[in-house]
Amino acid sequence: MRQPKSWNKFGLPSVVGAVLMTAIPSPAAEDVVGRRQADMKAMAAAAKTISGMFKDPESYKAVEFRLAADTIRDRSGGILSGHFASEDADPQSKARPNIPEERDRFDRIANDLRGYAAALDVAAEQNPGPMPASMRMKPGEAMGGGPLGTHIRNEQELSAMPAEHVFHLMIQTCTTCHARFRME
Ligand code: HEC
Repeated sequence: MRQPKSWNKFGLPSVVGAVLMTAIPSPAAEDVVGRRQADMKAMAAAAKTISGMFKDPESYKAVEFRLAADTIRDRSGGILSGHFASEDADPQSKARPNIPEERDRFDRIANDLRGYAAALDVAAEQNPGPMPASMRMKPGEAMGGGPLGTHIRNEQELSAMPAEHVFHLMIQTCTTCHARFRME
């Protein structure tokens, strides 16, 4: 039996179909928001893993530490920036609309995050056994990350720093970006 012309391929009257179409974000936009939120969650879990090993150094396992660092490294920098390339607002998203106007700052923070995560990967690669004291911050070690917490350091400077210090600077990049680019 042929359907009347006003019914579309979903078997819905065209008016209902049109309403659904406008209420649901386009699949592409929804995908990118879902993907970046999933990446953020994966980074949060990885940061928690690393944090746990600094709190309880006995639990340090270089392989797991490295995997966690790589989880962040591989989701930051250009990958992270690329997930926020679309200027379309999406109701599912908590991203602030100022990202396009402040693109450079956003990308710089995303790159800082990558730099810190890469330095943590190297630290774990160089310390395959138990966590040495050199990976820990000394009591009272200054945490300076600059007023915005995103003082850009070069690789050499980062590799000379205890990994725990790098970790704290890395977490500051999460916080700095959220404060400016994520809705409360
Ligand atoms: C360059 C900016 C930037 C950096 C760096 C960044 N985030 Fe985010 N994050 C965002 C934005 C923007 C959102 C909101 C995304 C959305 O809802 O579309 C977000 C969302 C999140 C969420 C919520 C995800 C959800 O399910 O809605 C978590 C968790 C999160 N970030 C954790 C982290 C952690 C942990 C780090 C650091 C390791 C980090 N982020 C680094 C910008 C950033």
